[in-house]
Amino acid sequence: MSTRSRLASAAYSVTMGGPRIKEPQEEELRRAIGGRTVLVTGASAGIGRALALQCGRAGATVALVARREDALAELAEEIRAEGGTVSVHPCDLSDLEALDATAEEVLAAHGHVDVLVNNAARSIRRRVTDSFDRFHDVERTVQLNYLAPVRLMHRVLPGMLEAGDGHIINCLTLGVLATPPKFAAYLGSKAALDAYSRSVAAELVEEGIRVTSAYLPLVRTEMIAPTASYDGAPALTAEQAANMLASAMVDRPRRLAPPAGLLLDAARIVAPTSLLTTGRALQRRFASSH
Ligand SMILES: NC(=O)c1ccc[n+]([C@@H]2O[C@H](COP(=O)([O-])OP(=O)(O)OC[C@H]3O[C@@H](n4cnc5c(N)ncnc54)[C@H](OP(=O)(O)O)[C@@H]3O)[C@@H](O)[C@H]2O)c1
Repeated sequence: MSTRSRLASAAYSVTMGGPRIKEPQEEELRRAIGGRTVLVTGASAGIGRALALQCGRAGATVALVARREDALAELAEEIRAEGGTVSVHPCDLSDLEALDATAEEVLAAHGHVDVLVNNAARSIRRRVTDSFDRFHDVERTVQLNYLAPVRLMHRVLPGMLEAGDGHIINCLTLGVLATPPKFAAYLGSKAALDAYSRSVAAELVEEGIRVTSAYLPLVRTEMIAPTASYDGAPALTAEQAANMLASAMVDRPRRLAPPAGLLLDAARIVAPTSLLTTGRALQRRFASSH
Protein backbone atom coordinates (compact mmCIF):
# COMPACT_ATOMS: atom_id res chain seq x y z
CA MET A 1 0.00 0.00 0.00
CA SER A 2 1.40 3.42 -0.94
CA THR A 3 2.00 6.09 1.69
CA ARG A 4 -0.79 8.14 0.15
CA SER A 5 -3.19 5.22 0.45
CA ARG A 6 -2.08 4.57 4.02
CA LEU A 7 -2.67 8.20 4.95
CA ALA A 8 -6.06 8.18 3.29
CA SER A 9 -6.99 4.96 5.05
CA ALA A 10 -5.81 6.28 8.42
CA ALA A 11 -7.75 9.50 7.89
CA TYR A 12 -10.85 7.49 7.15
CA SER A 13 -10.40 5.39 10.31
CA VAL A 14 -10.10 8.54 12.41
CA THR A 15 -13.21 9.93 10.76
CA MET A 16 -15.18 6.79 11.51
CA GLY A 17 -14.05 6.22 15.06
CA GLY A 18 -12.54 9.29 16.56
CA PRO A 19 -15.11 12.07 16.68
CA ARG A 20 -15.71 13.99 19.87
CA ILE A 21 -19.26 13.18 20.80
CA LYS A 22 -21.36 16.02 22.05
CA GLU A 23 -23.41 14.85 24.99
CA PRO A 24 -26.45 17.04 25.62
CA GLN A 25 -27.02 18.13 29.21
CA GLU A 26 -30.05 16.34 30.62
CA GLU A 27 -31.67 19.68 31.39
CA GLU A 28 -31.30 21.08 27.85
CA LEU A 29 -32.66 17.86 26.33
CA ARG A 30 -35.59 18.02 28.76
CA ARG A 31 -36.25 21.62 27.67
CA ALA A 32 -36.13 20.58 24.00
CA ILE A 33 -38.35 17.49 24.09
CA GLY A 34 -39.95 17.21 27.54
CA GLY A 35 -43.73 16.78 27.18
CA ARG A 36 -43.40 16.42 23.41
CA THR A 37 -44.04 13.39 21.21
CA VAL A 38 -40.99 11.76 19.67
CA LEU A 39 -41.47 8.97 17.10
CA VAL A 40 -38.42 6.72 16.80
CA THR A 41 -38.32 4.09 14.06
CA GLY A 42 -36.01 1.11 14.49
CA ALA A 43 -36.45 1.44 18.26
CA SER A 44 -36.14 -2.27 19.03
CA ALA A 45 -32.34 -2.35 18.82
CA GLY A 46 -29.11 -0.44 18.41
CA ILE A 47 -29.09 3.33 18.11
CA GLY A 48 -32.88 3.68 18.04
CA ARG A 49 -33.26 1.75 21.29
CA ALA A 50 -30.60 3.82 23.06
CA LEU A 51 -32.18 7.05 21.78
CA ALA A 52 -35.70 6.03 22.83
CA LEU A 53 -34.45 5.39 26.37
CA GLN A 54 -32.77 8.79 26.44
CA CYS A 55 -35.93 10.54 25.16
CA GLY A 56 -38.05 8.76 27.78
CA ARG A 57 -35.68 9.93 30.54
CA ALA A 58 -35.92 13.49 29.20
CA GLY A 59 -39.70 13.47 29.68
CA ALA A 60 -40.80 12.96 26.07
CA THR A 61 -43.70 10.74 25.09
CA VAL A 62 -41.92 8.16 22.96
CA ALA A 63 -43.66 6.26 20.14
CA LEU A 64 -41.66 3.12 19.36
CA VAL A 65 -41.76 1.55 15.89
CA ALA A 66 -40.00 -1.60 14.60
CA ARG A 67 -41.00 -5.13 13.57
CA ARG A 68 -40.07 -7.03 16.77
CA GLU A 69 -43.06 -6.55 19.07
CA ASP A 70 -41.49 -8.38 22.02
CA ALA A 71 -38.35 -6.23 21.92
CA LEU A 72 -40.47 -3.06 21.75
CA ALA A 73 -42.65 -4.24 24.67
CA GLU A 74 -39.52 -4.94 26.73
CA LEU A 75 -38.12 -1.49 25.94
CA ALA A 76 -41.46 0.13 26.79
CA GLU A 77 -41.38 -1.58 30.20
CA GLU A 78 -37.87 -0.22 30.76
CA ILE A 79 -38.95 3.32 29.82
CA ARG A 80 -42.04 3.12 32.07
CA ALA A 81 -39.95 1.76 34.94
CA GLU A 82 -37.86 4.94 34.70
CA GLY A 83 -41.02 7.08 34.84
CA GLY A 84 -41.32 7.67 31.09
CA THR A 85 -44.37 7.70 28.81
CA VAL A 86 -44.34 5.39 25.82
CA SER A 87 -46.47 3.69 23.17
CA VAL A 88 -45.61 0.63 21.08
CA HIS A 89 -46.37 0.33 17.35
CA PRO A 90 -45.02 -2.87 15.74
CA CYS A 91 -44.73 -2.41 11.97
CA ASP A 92 -42.77 -3.58 8.96
CA LEU A 93 -41.99 -0.17 7.46
CA SER A 94 -41.13 -1.73 4.10
CA ASP A 95 -44.87 -2.23 3.70
CA LEU A 96 -46.13 1.27 2.94
CA GLU A 97 -49.76 0.41 3.69
CA ALA A 98 -48.75 -0.92 7.10
CA LEU A 99 -46.64 2.23 7.56
CA ASP A 100 -49.67 4.45 6.81
CA ALA A 101 -51.78 2.51 9.33
CA THR A 102 -49.05 2.85 11.96
CA ALA A 103 -48.69 6.58 11.34
CA GLU A 104 -52.46 6.94 11.78
CA GLU A 105 -52.29 4.90 14.99
CA VAL A 106 -49.53 7.14 16.39
CA LEU A 107 -51.38 10.32 15.41
CA ALA A 108 -54.63 9.00 16.93
CA ALA A 109 -52.82 8.13 20.16
CA HIS A 110 -50.86 11.37 20.55
CA GLY A 111 -52.58 13.93 18.30
CA HIS A 112 -49.36 14.87 16.54
CA VAL A 113 -45.66 14.12 16.31
CA ASP A 114 -43.19 16.83 17.36
CA VAL A 115 -39.99 14.96 16.49
CA LEU A 116 -39.66 12.17 13.93
CA VAL A 117 -36.45 10.15 13.93
CA ASN A 118 -36.19 8.10 10.75
CA ASN A 119 -33.68 5.60 12.10
CA ALA A 120 -34.82 2.14 10.90
CA ALA A 121 -32.70 0.88 8.02
CA ARG A 122 -30.99 -2.12 6.51
CA SER A 123 -27.43 -2.21 5.26
CA ILE A 124 -26.09 -4.44 2.52
CA ARG A 125 -22.41 -4.94 1.83
CA ARG A 126 -21.81 -6.59 -1.54
CA ARG A 127 -19.60 -5.97 -4.54
CA VAL A 128 -21.42 -4.74 -7.62
CA THR A 129 -19.88 -7.65 -9.52
CA ASP A 130 -21.70 -10.03 -7.16
CA SER A 131 -24.97 -8.11 -7.50
CA PHE A 132 -26.03 -8.63 -11.12
CA ASP A 133 -28.57 -11.30 -10.09
CA ARG A 134 -29.55 -9.50 -6.91
CA PHE A 135 -31.48 -6.44 -8.01
CA HIS A 136 -33.63 -6.94 -4.91
CA ASP A 137 -30.69 -5.60 -2.85
CA VAL A 138 -31.36 -2.23 -4.46
CA GLU A 139 -35.13 -2.54 -4.17
CA ARG A 140 -35.05 -3.56 -0.51
CA THR A 141 -32.67 -0.81 0.59
CA VAL A 142 -34.57 1.84 -1.36
CA GLN A 143 -37.88 0.61 0.08
CA LEU A 144 -36.83 0.78 3.74
CA ASN A 145 -34.08 3.41 3.73
CA TYR A 146 -35.60 5.92 1.31
CA LEU A 147 -39.30 5.38 0.52
CA ALA A 148 -40.37 4.55 4.10
CA PRO A 149 -38.76 7.63 5.75
CA VAL A 150 -40.13 9.89 3.02
CA ARG A 151 -43.62 8.42 3.44
CA LEU A 152 -43.44 8.92 7.22
CA MET A 153 -42.38 12.52 6.67
CA HIS A 154 -45.47 12.98 4.49
CA ARG A 155 -47.66 11.53 7.25
CA VAL A 156 -46.34 13.71 10.11
CA LEU A 157 -45.59 16.96 8.26
CA PRO A 158 -49.21 18.17 7.97
CA GLY A 159 -49.48 18.20 11.79
CA MET A 160 -46.10 19.92 12.11
CA LEU A 161 -47.12 22.56 9.58
CA GLU A 162 -50.33 23.19 11.47
CA ALA A 163 -48.37 23.57 14.70
CA GLY A 164 -45.76 25.78 12.99
CA ASP A 165 -43.09 23.65 14.62
CA GLY A 166 -41.47 20.26 14.18
CA HIS A 167 -38.19 18.44 13.78
CA ILE A 168 -37.27 15.53 11.54
CA ILE A 169 -33.98 13.68 11.93
CA ASN A 170 -33.00 11.43 9.06
CA CYS A 171 -30.28 8.94 10.00
CA LEU A 172 -27.70 8.71 7.25
CA THR A 173 -24.14 7.50 7.27
CA LEU A 174 -20.73 9.08 6.88
CA GLY A 175 -20.49 6.69 3.96
CA VAL A 176 -22.70 9.13 2.02
CA LEU A 177 -19.83 11.61 2.28
CA ALA A 178 -16.94 9.15 1.91
CA THR A 179 -18.48 6.63 -0.53
CA PRO A 180 -16.59 3.48 0.53
CA PRO A 181 -16.69 0.53 -1.90
CA LYS A 182 -19.07 -2.47 -1.72
CA PHE A 183 -21.98 -0.50 -0.23
CA ALA A 184 -23.53 0.85 -3.44
CA ALA A 185 -27.12 -0.27 -2.75
CA TYR A 186 -27.09 0.97 0.85
CA LEU A 187 -25.34 4.24 0.06
CA GLY A 188 -27.58 4.91 -2.95
CA SER A 189 -30.68 4.69 -0.73
CA LYS A 190 -29.13 6.87 1.98
CA ALA A 191 -27.88 9.46 -0.54
CA ALA A 192 -31.40 9.69 -1.98
CA LEU A 193 -32.79 10.37 1.51
CA ASP A 194 -30.03 12.92 2.07
CA ALA A 195 -30.89 14.88 -1.08
CA TYR A 196 -34.61 14.73 -0.24
CA SER A 197 -33.96 15.90 3.34
CA ARG A 198 -31.78 18.83 2.32
CA SER A 199 -34.29 20.05 -0.23
CA VAL A 200 -37.19 19.77 2.23
CA ALA A 201 -35.10 21.44 4.95
CA ALA A 202 -34.59 24.49 2.76
CA GLU A 203 -38.27 24.56 1.80
CA LEU A 204 -39.74 24.31 5.32
CA VAL A 205 -37.37 26.40 7.42
CA GLU A 206 -39.70 29.40 7.16
CA GLU A 207 -42.55 27.22 8.44
CA GLY A 208 -40.73 26.52 11.70
CA ILE A 209 -39.79 22.98 10.71
CA ARG A 210 -36.23 21.74 10.92
CA VAL A 211 -34.88 18.72 9.04
CA THR A 212 -31.53 17.26 10.10
CA SER A 213 -29.33 15.04 7.93
CA ALA A 214 -27.39 12.96 10.48
CA TYR A 215 -24.21 11.44 9.01
CA LEU A 216 -23.34 8.80 11.60
CA PRO A 217 -19.93 7.13 11.77
CA LEU A 218 -19.41 3.41 12.40
CA VAL A 219 -21.46 2.24 15.41
CA ARG A 220 -21.18 -1.16 17.08
CA THR A 221 -24.69 -2.60 16.64
CA GLU A 222 -26.40 -5.61 15.05
CA MET A 223 -26.08 -3.81 11.72
CA ILE A 224 -22.30 -4.20 11.48
CA ALA A 225 -22.08 -7.55 13.30
CA PRO A 226 -22.05 -9.65 10.07
CA THR A 227 -19.07 -7.68 8.69
CA ALA A 228 -16.02 -9.47 10.07
CA SER A 229 -13.65 -6.77 8.86
CA TYR A 230 -15.29 -4.29 11.25
CA ASP A 231 -14.49 -6.47 14.29
CA GLY A 232 -11.43 -4.51 15.37
CA ALA A 233 -12.41 -1.21 13.75
CA PRO A 234 -12.97 1.88 15.87
CA ALA A 235 -16.68 2.41 16.36
CA LEU A 236 -19.06 4.35 18.59
CA THR A 237 -21.33 2.63 21.04
CA ALA A 238 -25.07 2.84 20.36
CA GLU A 239 -25.33 5.20 23.36
CA GLN A 240 -22.70 7.55 21.90
CA ALA A 241 -24.52 7.64 18.57
CA ALA A 242 -27.80 8.27 20.42
CA ASN A 243 -26.06 11.18 22.18
CA MET A 244 -25.27 12.67 18.78
CA LEU A 245 -28.93 12.43 17.77
CA ALA A 246 -30.10 13.77 21.13
CA SER A 247 -27.79 16.77 20.73
CA ALA A 248 -29.47 17.37 17.35
CA MET A 249 -32.84 17.51 19.13
CA VAL A 250 -31.44 20.40 21.15
CA ASP A 251 -29.60 22.30 18.38
CA ARG A 252 -31.73 21.24 15.37
CA PRO A 253 -28.86 21.60 12.85
CA ARG A 254 -29.37 20.97 9.14
CA ARG A 255 -26.33 18.68 9.13
CA LEU A 256 -25.01 16.56 11.96
CA ALA A 257 -21.66 14.85 11.54
CA PRO A 258 -18.44 14.37 13.45
CA PRO A 259 -16.14 17.32 12.64
CA ALA A 260 -13.92 15.08 10.54
CA GLY A 261 -16.97 14.08 8.50
CA LEU A 262 -17.57 17.66 7.44
CA LEU A 263 -13.89 17.92 6.45
CA LEU A 264 -14.39 14.78 4.40
CA ASP A 265 -17.30 16.44 2.66
CA ALA A 266 -15.17 19.47 1.84
CA ALA A 267 -12.42 17.15 0.57
CA ARG A 268 -14.93 15.43 -1.69
CA ILE A 269 -15.50 18.73 -3.45
CA VAL A 270 -11.93 20.04 -3.66
CA ALA A 271 -10.02 16.76 -4.09
CA PRO A 272 -12.36 13.97 -5.25
CA THR A 273 -9.49 11.74 -6.43
CA SER A 274 -8.06 11.58 -2.88
CA LEU A 275 -11.34 10.12 -1.73
CA LEU A 276 -11.17 7.60 -4.54
CA THR A 277 -7.79 6.62 -3.13
CA THR A 278 -9.41 6.25 0.28
CA GLY A 279 -11.98 3.93 -1.20
CA ARG A 280 -9.37 1.80 -2.91
CA ALA A 281 -7.22 1.73 0.25
CA LEU A 282 -10.20 0.46 2.22
CA GLN A 283 -10.97 -2.13 -0.40
CA ARG A 284 -7.39 -3.46 -0.21
CA ARG A 285 -7.33 -3.32 3.59
CA PHE A 286 -10.52 -5.34 3.95
CA ALA A 287 -10.00 -7.63 0.95
CA SER A 288 -8.10 -10.27 2.93
CA SER A 289 -10.97 -10.88 5.36
CA HIS A 290 -13.66 -11.48 2.68
N1 LIG B 1 -24.30 0.80 12.85
C1 LIG B 1 -23.58 1.62 12.10
O1 LIG B 1 -22.35 1.47 11.95
C2 LIG B 1 -24.24 2.77 11.39
C3 LIG B 1 -23.39 3.70 10.77
C4 LIG B 1 -23.96 4.78 10.13
C5 LIG B 1 -25.33 4.93 10.10
N2 LIG B 1 -26.13 4.01 10.70
C6 LIG B 1 -27.58 4.21 10.62
O2 LIG B 1 -28.11 4.30 11.92
C7 LIG B 1 -29.44 3.79 11.92
C8 LIG B 1 -29.59 2.75 13.01
O3 LIG B 1 -28.69 1.70 12.75
P1 LIG B 1 -28.32 0.59 13.84
O4 LIG B 1 -26.88 0.33 13.69
O5 LIG B 1 -28.87 0.94 15.17
O6 LIG B 1 -29.11 -0.65 13.23
P2 LIG B 1 -29.62 -2.00 13.91
O7 LIG B 1 -29.00 -2.23 15.22
O8 LIG B 1 -29.51 -3.02 12.84
O9 LIG B 1 -31.16 -1.66 14.14
C9 LIG B 1 -32.00 -1.46 13.05
C10 LIG B 1 -33.38 -1.15 13.58
O10 LIG B 1 -34.25 -1.00 12.44
C11 LIG B 1 -35.37 -1.86 12.61
N3 LIG B 1 -35.84 -2.34 11.32
C12 LIG B 1 -35.15 -3.05 10.40
N4 LIG B 1 -35.94 -3.36 9.37
C13 LIG B 1 -37.16 -2.83 9.64
C14 LIG B 1 -38.41 -2.84 8.97
N5 LIG B 1 -38.56 -3.45 7.79
N6 LIG B 1 -39.46 -2.19 9.52
C15 LIG B 1 -39.32 -1.59 10.73
N7 LIG B 1 -38.16 -1.55 11.42
C16 LIG B 1 -37.10 -2.17 10.88
C17 LIG B 1 -34.86 -3.00 13.48
O11 LIG B 1 -35.90 -3.58 14.23
P3 LIG B 1 -36.72 -4.89 13.85
O12 LIG B 1 -35.74 -5.91 13.39
O13 LIG B 1 -37.40 -5.22 15.15
O14 LIG B 1 -37.69 -4.47 12.79
C18 LIG B 1 -33.93 -2.25 14.43
O15 LIG B 1 -34.69 -1.71 15.49
C19 LIG B 1 -29.70 3.28 10.51
O16 LIG B 1 -30.37 4.27 9.78
C20 LIG B 1 -28.31 3.07 9.95
O17 LIG B 1 -28.29 3.16 8.55
C21 LIG B 1 -25.61 2.93 11.35
